[in-house]
Amino acid sequence: FNVPVPINEPVKGYAPGSPERLELLKTLKELKQQERDIPMYIGGKPVRTGNTQRISPPHDHQHTLGHFHEGDASHVHQAIDAALAARTQWAELPWEHRAAIFLKAADLLAGPYRARINAATMLGQSKNAFQAEIDAACELIDFFRFNVHFMQQIYQQQPESLPGMWNRLEQRPLEGFVFALTPFNFTSIAGNLPTSAAMMGNTIVWKPAYTQIYSAQVLMELFQEAGVPDGVINLIYVDGPMAGDIIFSHPDFAGIHFTGSTGVFQNIWKTIGQNIHKYRSYPRIVGETGGKDFILAHHSAHPKQVATAITRGAFEFQGQKCSAASRAYIPSNIWDEVKGYLQEDLKSIKMGDVEDFSNFVNAVISEVSFDKLAKYIDAAKQDEGVEIIAGGGHDKSKGYFIEPTVIVTKDPKYVTMCDELFGPVITIYVYDSQEFEKILDVVDGTSPYALTGAIFSQDRYAIDLASKKLVHAAGNFYINDKPTGAVVGQQPFGGARASGTNDKAGSMLNLLRWVSPRAIKETF
Ligand code: SER
Repeated sequence: FNVPVPINEPVKGYAPGSPERLELLKTLKELKQQERDIPMYIGGKPVRTGNTQRISPPHDHQHTLGHFHEGDASHVHQAIDAALAARTQWAELPWEHRAAIFLKAADLLAGPYRARINAATMLGQSKNAFQAEIDAACELIDFFRFNVHFMQQIYQQQPESLPGMWNRLEQRPLEGFVFALTPFNFTSIAGNLPTSAAMMGNTIVWKPAYTQIYSAQVLMELFQEAGVPDGVINLIYVDGPMAGDIIFSHPDFAGIHFTGSTGVFQNIWKTIGQNIHKYRSYPRIVGETGGKDFILAHHSAHPKQVATAITRGAFEFQGQKCSAASRAYIPSNIWDEVKGYLQEDLKSIKMGDVEDFSNFVNAVISEVSFDKLAKYIDAAKQDEGVEIIAGGGHDKSKGYFIEPTVIVTKDPKYVTMCDELFGPVITIYVYDSQEFEKILDVVDGTSPYALTGAIFSQDRYAIDLASKKLVHAAGNFYINDKPTGAVVGQQPFGGARASGTNDKAGSMLNLLRWVSPRAIKETF
């Protein structure tokens, strides 16, 4: 039997008066009127510790969305035990049943859960309706449907056999539990990391970022309704280093599926290395980490196209996409035009809460993030050789608002050209249009990261040169398009160097990390 052929979920437009907009507005209102009591889920059961923390929208500190129950070391142990207890039955379930569960999850998300997951992502992570729709709804639906399709291909791939023998490949799940550590910025990533490993027959301990718990709980309800059995995915809200101490010294730790910062991932890798003798098998280490993504224009580029790519690539979801452009290299011959279009674009952009759908920019996720960004912006205001040509304002009185900010520097190694800021700030270096080859070395050598990058040019030789010279500078490379918005099944996503292990999310490569094949030979 073949699983349904996957097609990308169509993105809804949320035009004024459209049924999807009315439903989303109604759901936002309902969620805002409740104060949700958010438990952990271990072995399928809600767990309430009474040790609660308040959740409020990043764009409105005053409002309380709910409280989550924080766990301690005992809950980490319980989650591991529940995952191990559920392991054998789940692993032995024929794969098509696992496939059916996640196909059902996709349909639930496309239908009855769509407004709820979008509203929860909007309120909990300050993502506007359009950004929530492409993330929490469409991308996660695509992850489920495409991963099921890849899963089938993996299970059906079999080796050749000669007469007198039969060779077979058995795709076993890993021997132990998988730890999913998920970020705040994409609800789809929070949904994909535990489920892609679970799909391949593994059981999971899932710890989301504290700033994403509000929508994580909706995902957990979705998994349960789709039929994920008790104990297969265990959701805990616990201190990271404490959980790490327990998980990474457990003999049954079989792998980690991670998206987050480079520093945290490197520490995890070191800890796993130090504990390597404790494990039954070498754990799978799969991570997508930091980025310092670039836009590079050639002197043949169309100025308007470049300006639009900067506005969208750097400022959608407040620049908090790992793929977001945060440094740009613009040739002197088109700079005045690019600058004019950019300033015009940014003048028309509105910033504010998520309920007014005309706000393009909303709040950044947390006070820590706000303070860090404000510090870099304020330093840039003082620095010589640096000019802020748009934005520069910030205010955290009601929510964590940072204006979309464009810094122009005369130094291609200026601090905001190099450091990962993860917010609505882009730094631009204007280079001599005749020095394209030289700038390629600068682009390649400025940052240890290699996640996404974009080249804008109408000159095929220049595109070819950039593709060759920047071969390791980006795991996702865009020609005449912004560097964000990878679509599952179309542009498998991930970076190398300090940006991760490049086990492309939403691809067969990723799913292959969650199985341990057994080759069987039988002779007759
Ligand atoms: N996949 C997202 C993008 O391409 C980032 O995680 O923007």
